[in-house]
Amino acid sequence: MGIKLGLVGLGAFGSAFAPLFASHPLVDSVILCDAEADKVKKHAEDPAIAPKVAGQMLSLDEVCKSDCDAVVIITQPWLHAPQCIQVLEAGKYVYSAVPVISLPDDNEMLDWCEKIIETVERTGMEYMLGETTIYRPQTMFCRRMAQQGLFGDFVYAEAEYAHDLDNFYCSLRKVSAHRSTGKIGQMREQILAPYYQRGCKSHPMAYPTHSVSGVVEVMRSKPVSVSAIGFANRNNDPFFENHDFSNISAFFKLDNGCALRVAEMREISPNIGLDDEDFRIFGTRGSYSLNEWRNNGRVEPTPEPKKNELTKLTAEEMRDPLPPEVSAAFSEALSRKDGEVKDFLASGHGGSHPYLVHEFVSAVAERRRPQVSAWDAAMYMAMGVAAHQSAQKDGEIVKVVDFGKKWE
Ligand SMILES: NC(=O)c1ccc[n+]([C@@H]2O[C@H](COP(=O)([O-])OP(=O)(O)OC[C@H]3O[C@@H](n4cnc5c(N)ncnc54)[C@H](O)[C@@H]3O)[C@@H](O)[C@H]2O)c1
Repeated sequence: MGIKLGLVGLGAFGSAFAPLFASHPLVDSVILCDAEADKVKKHAEDPAIAPKVAGQMLSLDEVCKSDCDAVVIITQPWLHAPQCIQVLEAGKYVYSAVPVISLPDDNEMLDWCEKIIETVERTGMEYMLGETTIYRPQTMFCRRMAQQGLFGDFVYAEAEYAHDLDNFYCSLRKVSAHRSTGKIGQMREQILAPYYQRGCKSHPMAYPTHSVSGVVEVMRSKPVSVSAIGFANRNNDPFFENHDFSNISAFFKLDNGCALRVAEMREISPNIGLDDEDFRIFGTRGSYSLNEWRNNGRVEPTPEPKKNELTKLTAEEMRDPLPPEVSAAFSEALSRKDGEVKDFLASGHGGSHPYLVHEFVSAVAERRRPQVSAWDAAMYMAMGVAAHQSAQKDGEIVKVVDFGKKWE
């Protein structure tokens, strides 16, 4: 027997995930939920979802009272953590869109991380953060190389999320305006105003997960401390009115001795890496950069020069395979709209979406801890908070809060 999922939040991002969750072969049925009735109706009529619809609801409260096994939360980012805790308390596994929560108060964000961990431990239910970077092709490839020891010792890495506010394909001004609409969205100002009144500031490290997660996942390392530099907007752009910084660049020490440079940029003409959301990792024996793997083959000290062999990689070569029955089900469901069943192509944020869906559904079905657990999620948020606190102190070294357990 398969599982029953509640899908809460059918907005811009939730719409990309609903057909994948509904068509996974281990999912028997789904409850669709959004505070906006028209969004629920639209998805219930989607041919890729319709055969599995077991309920249509307008609130998270109703979904928590239902008999579903797990709930997927893809709501506005300032709402995630309390909503996830409500689901865990209702005795269900929960999946959260990133980040854990985004609020202009660093200490409160860490408090929410702690509360989620405490609730997971007490209830025995599991939390998964839907971090797309963990299932990008370069992360999968580097994880395999690391597992075989082919990097040698890690010496240096760099990672960034460079998303300019006026990005042609995804304007942050428009995204922010859009998320502030509707019954739930229009409460945003009311929720955030008290923070700004008491002097709290927004900053890019409140959403650090895309840049920080890939490297620590590959290395199975923990952050120790950070020194960071902030850049404050200089042309009075109203978008940054309540921000102290529009960009933050941080230099972390990891517990394996590796140095990691991370940049979270919201005001930049981006031209970093391959697609402005990328990382590069360098070890004593092997290194990954810009879809290329280089390996010097050195194991022991040797007087002979070593050639650094180059392997160019495609995204397909870097990805782990999905189980064939899962790819086939996604293909079949997604083709229902246009008739012809095509070969399945992993898509969405570097092809990560189907992998996120597969990992969460499998974790629920097998009653196990998902790959991106409450502890991973808290570690990413702690890195962002420490970087922001360091930037506020002009680069002073700040320790990263350790939530424990991870990699132990
Ligand atoms: N790469 C990535 O991982 C990535 C990319 C884009 C968006 N996201 C995340 O996805 C999330 C959603 O973004 P979006 O653009 O789809 O937002 P959106 O505003 O389009 O959609 C959010 C939806 O949630 C619904 N909602 C909120 N609370 C609810 C409740 N209690 N009950 C019922 N419905 C509720 C709203 O009505 C709205 O339709 C954000 O948190 C964002 O950070 C992640």
